[in-house]
Amino acid sequence: MISPASIEQLLNAVVIEDVVGDYVNLRRSGARYKGVCPFHDEKTPSFIVSPGLGIYKCFGCQKGGNAIQFLMEIDNMSYPEASRSLAKRYGIELIETGTRDDDEYKEKQKVRESLQAALDYAADFFENQLHDVEEGKTKAMPYFKERGYTYETIRKWRLGYSPEAWEAFTQKAIKEGYKAENLELAGLIKKRENGSHYDLYRNRVIFPLIGVSGKLLGFAGRKMSSADPAPKYVNSPETELYKKSDFLFGIFQAKNAIKKQDKVYLTEGYTDVITLHQAGIENAVASSGTALTPNQIKLIRRFTPNVTVVYDGDAAGIKASLRGIDLLLSDDLNVRVVSLPEGEDPDSYCAKLGGEGFADYLAKEEQNFIIFKARLLLDECGSDPIKKSEAIRDILQSVACMNDALKRNAMNHELARVCEVDESLLASELGKLLRNKNLKHEQDFIQEVKQVTAASGVDMPKEALTDIHQERALFRILLLHGEEPWDENTRLSDFVVKELKEDDQLIFNDDMCALITSEIKSASWEVWPGKNYFIQHANMEIASWAAGVLSSGYELSVAYADNFIHVKKEEDNYRNELTAVFLYLRKKKLDNLIKHYTQSLQEPDADVSEILEMLNYLNDLRARVAKKIGGVVFSI
Ligand code: CTP
Ligand code: MN
Repeated sequence: MISPASIEQLLNAVVIEDVVGDYVNLRRSGARYKGVCPFHDEKTPSFIVSPGLGIYKCFGCQKGGNAIQFLMEIDNMSYPEASRSLAKRYGIELIETGTRDDDEYKEKQKVRESLQAALDYAADFFENQLHDVEEGKTKAMPYFKERGYTYETIRKWRLGYSPEAWEAFTQKAIKEGYKAENLELAGLIKKRENGSHYDLYRNRVIFPLIGVSGKLLGFAGRKMSSADPAPKYVNSPETELYKKSDFLFGIFQAKNAIKKQDKVYLTEGYTDVITLHQAGIENAVASSGTALTPNQIKLIRRFTPNVTVVYDGDAAGIKASLRGIDLLLSDDLNVRVVSLPEGEDPDSYCAKLGGEGFADYLAKEEQNFIIFKARLLLDECGSDPIKKSEAIRDILQSVACMNDALKRNAMNHELARVCEVDESLLASELGKLLRNKNLKHEQDFIQEVKQVTAASGVDMPKEALTDIHQERALFRILLLHGEEPWDENTRLSDFVVKELKEDDQLIFNDDMCALITSEIKSASWEVWPGKNYFIQHANMEIASWAAGVLSSGYELSVAYADNFIHVKKEEDNYRNELTAVFLYLRKKKLDNLIKHYTQSLQEPDADVSEILEMLNYLNDLRARVAKKIGGVVFSI
């Protein structure tokens, strides 16, 4: 265990905005810093770092703590690991005491540490083979030189060589005391049928795969000759440390440049990234040749919203990756594209033009992604009107991914020109696509409000719940429309039942509503049993309530104003009404939370600045809810 005194000393030395700043793009806001939370999906920043207090706090997902906790959370480190890494960074000596707090977690941590040690040993081995052993010096070094890599580049990326032998690494590592089992788990060696082991990387140049915090996660080995029939790359398998879908090659080396220039160049290959960096374009990363994943996008977003995709110059590859880019758009990233001449990739073309020339090319050729996509798809249609309308719908799908209405409108205007179609026609097509999307958005908003109110840990006093009309409306809609669709995959009843079961703060003042809720929560049925179940219910109160609701039929309440997606179809109204009801009920809880925190400001040991931040967030959320449901907000 690390002594509490030295932890305190450490935390006093740590500059929290620097530690967090390695992962999150922070902007100063008064005495604090603000950024987009790295722990949950959000669009507006509710993540705050307070240097004075040495803490971070997200008012969206409630995560918060000091610098050690931040590293534990974001890099999956154990407490001692995070403390040691900070101590190293700030030159503090940690005093370790003898007690042990043993458990399963520690065991797992030990495995991770062994894997890390095995990888670090392997990196040294491969580097040594390249620099100091004859075979590497004569086979691999010329390969790198041929590619134009300087000595500094080779050292910076810790490039290496794995010799042409089956067990060179295996035997050396085992002799050094590394367990075969750990070497295998680290993805370095493989087991034969007879139980003996062999090297995974043989006769290849080695590219270490380094994670965002600088830790080695695995390797990629590239064959050196195109005559070699083996696959071009052998990549690290998925291990406890390396997850392909979370990884971006070069992110550790690029992150400062990305933050500084507020922009990232996204390429496909390891060699593209290395060449670009060597040429002075250091804000470049690679997705390792596959479509982007949501986690990779999250990783990018920590540093910048501006992404420029640099495509290899072959049409098939470009078309394949179009779809993935919509993910970037829906995450509010600004996406631009540069396409390269046929047959070139960033690596080859940068080598051809030189660093400055290539940087100029990127700046000059960069264009908006959607316009690029439009030109590309339209080119293929020729004069076929059917193909053209399909292409336009495809393009509008991308526009619909953008959340900013102003940007969407500007894009439509531009597209009308590029596609040579009437702008109003585009707008009405887009409207249809957006209607579906907005439904999804509304659900996300309900979820955010739910998360904040349900996880607050502050109970509602019963008298605070007064709106019996709203409560009753909820169950009326449930009974009348339970079987109807809520979204593509769920029925309205599935949604409501889930909300009731998941949110303990959703309690009802009205006896009838409380009774039905407890009936639902304790029910043995898995699938919504339908109207008749309630009409025929053994409990007479429930049965007569159901009969009453069903005989009065459906009436849309006037309270649900025009703030929802404009609906033309009558049957869509119940969705809007339900959304509003949930927001009404939870707004009560927000009011209550705000009251609770306002009162707690009076307490003698109150952490005033933290409470004020919390109140800021809650007031903002309440205002958004009120705007949605068209209510008037009174400050308490
Ligand atoms: N890739 C892979 N396995 C392969 C081919 C490609 O994992 N058999 C991944 C690698 O991450 C590679 C990227 O896809 O970096 C891009 O592929 P490619 O352009 O073929 O490779 P480069 O790394 O660019 O190599 P080179 O420039 O030498 O062709
Ligand atoms: Mn390539």
